[in-house]
Amino acid sequence: MAERSKTPRHVAIIMDGNGRWARKRGLPRAKGHEMGAESVRAVVRACRDAGVKYLTLYAFSVENWIRPKEEIRGLMRLLRIFLSKHEKELHDNKIRLRVIGRIADLPKDIQKELKRVGRETEAYRGGTLVLALSYGGRAEIVDAIRQLAGKVKKGELDPRRIDEETVAAHLYAPDIPDPDLMIRTSGEMRISNFLLWQLSYAELYVTDILWPDFREDAFKKALKEYAHRHRRFGNIE
Ligand code: IPE
Ligand code: IPE
Ligand code: MG
Repeated sequence: MAERSKTPRHVAIIMDGNGRWARKRGLPRAKGHEMGAESVRAVVRACRDAGVKYLTLYAFSVENWIRPKEEIRGLMRLLRIFLSKHEKELHDNKIRLRVIGRIADLPKDIQKELKRVGRETEAYRGGTLVLALSYGGRAEIVDAIRQLAGKVKKGELDPRRIDEETVAAHLYAPDIPDPDLMIRTSGEMRISNFLLWQLSYAELYVTDILWPDFREDAFKKALKEYAHRHRRFGNIE
């Protein structure tokens, strides 16, 4: 019983450092992203092996749209490749694919693919892979507020009855439990607008390893460290 709770149910990752990984090798940034996609596959597998039920990956932020057009094109191209290459693995391992973010901002063909794969893996219970795409924590809260305000305006919701549960129920993936562990690679000590609401009580783990080098061993090390954390949730002891 106690042992079980030492494996996080939900791990969220800020996959950072692709550009620096490439620069260190004198390679174009795109190569770093390409190798980063391999880390995604490795970590999905490691989650399955460790019994982590939910994995959320920050793949593209709302702020990332300010990057050079060519880099964005390259990232979208990789996303297409990832979806087509990874789909079989999702089916084989009974993993459900979900997305959070302003999905309507993405190229139409990618939206269609995400919807299709999401639908076709919907019934699986082997685990859930959540891709955060065109995602921003503030944008998510704004989108929730818009929905709530709309309901209030129509007289469907009494503002005095809005509580934390109501707000949480209007976020992008209300059925998914909050992350237990948040990992950020490449050493940056910041949240960068990731899951602002949901990370309230997540354990934070930052490693200097750059995302393309973050593979199974590095992931296992993070899980090991998590197992030693003492979560108090505001209580004593
Ligand atoms: C993370 O790597 C991938 C995305 C944000 C899409 P970066 O591209 O941010 O790499 P660095 O931080 O410049 O090294
Ligand atoms: C965070 O990385 C976003 C993703 C990993 C998708 P960034 O590289 O965009 O974050 P900052 O700019 O260093 O805060
Ligand atoms: Mg970065």
